[in-house]
Amino acid sequence: MVEKIKVPGSQTVNGTVWVSGAKNAALPLLAASLLSSDGMELRNVPPLLDIDTMLDLLTQLGVICSITKNSPWANSIKLKTDSLYNFTAPYEIVKKMRASILVLGPLLARLGRCCVSLPGGCAIGVRPIDLHLKGLKALGAEIDLKDGYVYAKAIKGLKGADFRFPIVTVTGTENIMMAATLADGVTVLENVAREPEVVDLANCLNSMGAKISGQGTDVIEIKGVSNLGGAKYSVIPDRIEAGSYAIAAGITEGRVDLIGGNFRNVLQSFIDKMEEIGLIFSDIENGIHVESSGKLLSTSVCTSPYPGFPTDLQAQTMSLLCLAEGESEITENIWENRFMHAAELMRMGASISVSGAKAHIKGVKQLTGASVMATDLRASFGLITAALSASGDTTIDRVYHIDRGYSCLEEKFKGCEITLERVKGG
Ligand code: EPU
Repeated sequence: MVEKIKVPGSQTVNGTVWVSGAKNAALPLLAASLLSSDGMELRNVPPLLDIDTMLDLLTQLGVICSITKNSPWANSIKLKTDSLYNFTAPYEIVKKMRASILVLGPLLARLGRCCVSLPGGCAIGVRPIDLHLKGLKALGAEIDLKDGYVYAKAIKGLKGADFRFPIVTVTGTENIMMAATLADGVTVLENVAREPEVVDLANCLNSMGAKISGQGTDVIEIKGVSNLGGAKYSVIPDRIEAGSYAIAAGITEGRVDLIGGNFRNVLQSFIDKMEEIGLIFSDIENGIHVESSGKLLSTSVCTSPYPGFPTDLQAQTMSLLCLAEGESEITENIWENRFMHAAELMRMGASISVSGAKAHIKGVKQLTGASVMATDLRASFGLITAALSASGDTTIDRVYHIDRGYSCLEEKFKGCEITLERVKGG
């Protein structure tokens, strides 16, 4: 049964949100468990559909996964990895979640071969994996593409090498970094992603015995080791979830305490832009307080790799700028098709024109409730924030996207005096 979310309009965010562990950190950490036969215990894992999909995939490969619920928004997951009996990531799973590609590097490094379905495109762009494959080839892997699958082999093991990514890729960096931990010799990766999630993965791998340095800069060096041990590790808080709720507070002229980490450190370019628009941030114990200044001002936003403005907060920011005084511009530099939410916001009365990678937004006084469609994960949250500030009710279709990446959505909003209603419908 298809689910929709009904959002009554004219609501104000007022409360506290416990930010969950980061989806985009947890997924590569789960894949990293494949590198060792000693198992892993991962804490602060968010209860999300994408995590379930990764656990399904690991289970098919032979990992035994057991989940303990520590709170409504955090699980601990024990992964028993001593006997992998399969090296194939099938299309049925990869098509559900592109991040499945993250098993490629670890499987190849540990088993010397693997077979992973090509992910295909998705709503926000073509999303090729050519750089994952080039990086693995640089480490000596033989790669064949056949029947929609990547067949990778490194019978004599991977060899350390120098590789420069022509463009910055997050999961590409993660995949090659994981593979290189067990390669023979030293690997130097240049122009790597500097995202906090990449740093988290490197730190976890080092706790397993890897020798990685430079994480957080644009050059990572990995001295290969012959094997890795187990790990007990806690996932970093989700900066994108935190930023999303900050926007919900800003657009509704409300306030929210975001608890769970030092968000200022990992969201600086986002916070700078939000302050320019009119949100006020102040540090509190174990988190950050966000409130509206009562006024939203127009600006220009360009997405770029970390430490730039995150593409994963672009859709939510567009909703906010729809109500900002004056004219704003958003340039989306990461994904070629990540403006699908613009058309939905226009159904709610927004004034937006899109041309290539640029969206031009003329602020309006008020949005109005409508029936709209969630086009991807982050767009779903953007539509919810727009709907909260609108006059009248909004119904958002295809909300399954949101369960992939935002845990306990209704409960977290309830803690901020916001009511959302999930309705079943054809
Ligand atoms: N690219 C290539 N070739 C490659 C890999 C990437 O051309 O082999 C291009 C992409 O097409 C894109 C750019 O490089 O234009 C950057 O893509 P990247 O590889 O960095 O994206 P990703 O690793 O697939 C991760 C996040 C995304 C987030 C992007 C950018 C995970 C699991 N996913 O994707 O998160 O948007 O980095 O920050 O970490 C989300 O959570 O909603 C989401 C989409």
